[in-house]
Amino acid sequence: MKIGFIGLGIMGSRMAANLLQGGVELVIHNRTKDKATSLLEQGAVWAENLSDMAAVDIVFTMLAHPEAVAAIALGPDGFLDHLPPGKLWIDCSTVNPSFARDMAAAAQARGIRHVDAPVAGTKPQAQNAELVFIAGGEASDVAEADPYFKLMGQRVAHVGGHGMGVALKVVVNAMLGASMVVFAESMALGQALGLSQEILLNTVVGSAVAAPFLAGKRPKIEQDDYEAQFPLRWMQKDMHLAAVAAYEAGAAMPVANATKELYRLADQKGLGDEDFCAIYKFLRQ
Ligand SMILES: NC(=O)c1ccc[n+]([C@@H]2O[C@H](COP(=O)([O-])OP(=O)(O)OC[C@H]3O[C@@H](n4cnc5c(N)ncnc54)[C@H](OP(=O)(O)O)[C@@H]3O)[C@@H](O)[C@H]2O)c1
Repeated sequence: MKIGFIGLGIMGSRMAANLLQGGVELVIHNRTKDKATSLLEQGAVWAENLSDMAAVDIVFTMLAHPEAVAAIALGPDGFLDHLPPGKLWIDCSTVNPSFARDMAAAAQARGIRHVDAPVAGTKPQAQNAELVFIAGGEASDVAEADPYFKLMGQRVAHVGGHGMGVALKVVVNAMLGASMVVFAESMALGQALGLSQEILLNTVVGSAVAAPFLAGKRPKIEQDDYEAQFPLRWMQKDMHLAAVAAYEAGAAMPVANATKELYRLADQKGLGDEDFCAIYKFLRQ
């Protein structure tokens, strides 16, 4: 079994490394070839063109956003036109549900099977093969990829048909993005009222009012370390995807839309490549 992996950013490079460590024969591609160096040294094979993916049995993609996925799958020399019918495409990128269904239809039109399998977890979980895959698609296709999911993560949740994996992911990240902003602006209020950051963190983090993920962000905030685990730019993208999904489903997301614009303002101030918890730094200023 040969596996292809396209998209070697923060998450994809670590996921691909875990496949390699699990003994998988891996063919890799990334828009920026430099990011593949370490994986190539570890034995992965470089696909100069996306047509080289014709030789693999399953293609994993881990790309920034729907536009990147569309370009890699369906753009000039996109890999979908080169995969022989019957092959399996697993898209782990966070995209919106209608886009995932469009990709599933484009794949099916070429006889390719598609699963949307975004991940829960961030850089350390990708590094330590502790991701959770949230899969949408045919049960038999999810089962076929299970051994590879297990090399990159600790659990696979099959939650429904095409687009349902990303539906759940978009819901989760809407909560994550909004919770971070509520925490950040409340912390900023506390400091404006004369409370120290230390007293606020000691009181709030771990209490019933703070989301549990904030315990993981606390050391970064204390050390003023905003190196990206999950880039703020992609959190803004995910709030947008939630807004798009809500529009299409007839749901109202007033908080998500306001939060989306806040992340955009922080991005415009140069914080897009920093971790999304840099929204705290932005709101405190
Ligand atoms: N980081 C996290 O904590 C986390 C957690 C869960 C889910 N996710 C999701 O996982 C996906 C990847 O995130 P990441 O953190 O790994 O992001 P990243 O480090 O920014 O990597 C993004 C990847 O997409 C590629 N890309 C971007 N635009 C492209 C385009 N127009 N054409 C071709 N390739 C393009 C990049 O290629 P280059 O290297 O050439 O730029 C890179 O391989 C995103 O959908 C994100 O929302 C991230």
